[in-house]
Amino acid sequence: MARPPQVKLVEVGARDGLQNEPEPVATAVKIELIERLAAAGLSAVEAGSFVSPQRVPQMADTPQVLGGLRRRTRTAYPVLVPNLKGLDAALAAGVAEVAVFVSASEGFSSRNIACSRAESLARLAPVAERAVAHGLRLRGYVSCVIGCPYDGPVDPDQPAEMAVRLMEMGCYQVSLGDTIGVGTADAVRHLIDRVALRVSRACIAMHFHDTYGQAVANVLASLEAGIAVFDSSVGGLGGCPFATGATGNVATEDVLYLLQGLGIETGVDLLAVAETGAWISRLLGRPNGSRAGPALLAASGARSTVVR
Ligand code: HMG
Ligand code: MG
Repeated sequence: MARPPQVKLVEVGARDGLQNEPEPVATAVKIELIERLAAAGLSAVEAGSFVSPQRVPQMADTPQVLGGLRRRTRTAYPVLVPNLKGLDAALAAGVAEVAVFVSASEGFSSRNIACSRAESLARLAPVAERAVAHGLRLRGYVSCVIGCPYDGPVDPDQPAEMAVRLMEMGCYQVSLGDTIGVGTADAVRHLIDRVALRVSRACIAMHFHDTYGQAVANVLASLEAGIAVFDSSVGGLGGCPFATGATGNVATEDVLYLLQGLGIETGVDLLAVAETGAWISRLLGRPNGSRAGPALLAASGARSTVVR
């Protein structure tokens, strides 16, 4: 299948990235992070989540983050909502887009959102209905699409079924998450082919965590399977609090470097993202999870070093 000529990146560093940070991150830092990423040309920058603050304390200041953000008209700032309470808080904060999330596996569903897959779909139905009624854009996530930290390997029919249900609820797109980063290229191709029997490839995004170092290879496999939307995280920030050992998302800088090399348009300034990745990694006192970012910053004439 031909690779797409253009790709959209959904930057998840300020949500998926920071949600797992053990030490509190100042609201002002989160705001600066999101603003820098939007200024770099990322057209979708996740801004936080309205989940239980007992379960994910790092996201408790999402209302303040949204309140302090100088929002650009051409940038989307989606937030995660798990239930009606979260949706109402998101509406009060004036969001235009929310994301709902389910799991392909039972084990992760009960650990992450304290209910079964069937219960999660029932819980989300009124959330989706109300979000759509308020004119919000609705995105869906399916986690553990290849493997689950509790249940082991996941049959592609499980994420396919959950993806269909999210699309039926009104999601414009479903992001398939390899939450623990166990997937390799053939498994990813197989997954996409199976899901695409029921959901158009144009409505599928891929979300890779890089736990096993496979994420860039999996992005390439997905591109070659006709996928044109990827979630990524500046500096490879992150992990999931409910998937022990899972590391951050594929680094935005590394995906951009790949895409530039392939001649695929994104409209994003790679060097600006690399500088942001270096800044936030330094600030958090963590190693930069990107390979391309530090390499570009170290190289002289960084803008011309992408080899095609
Ligand atoms: P629950 O315990 O079943 O909920 O949690 P509950 O309705 O029984 O409420 C329990 C308490 O939480 C109550 O407070 C509620 O008010 C409060 P209390 O009365 O005890 O003081 N509460 C809330 N507070 C604020 N906002 C809310 C909210 N809802 C309840 N929205 C629930 C169910 C889903 C809420 C909980 O389990 C939860 O918040 N889980 C966190 C899930 C999460 O954020 N996970 C990380 C994001 S998903 C992810 O990272 C994967 C992804 O990146 C893709 C991939 O990589 O695969 C997207
Ligand atoms: Mg994730």
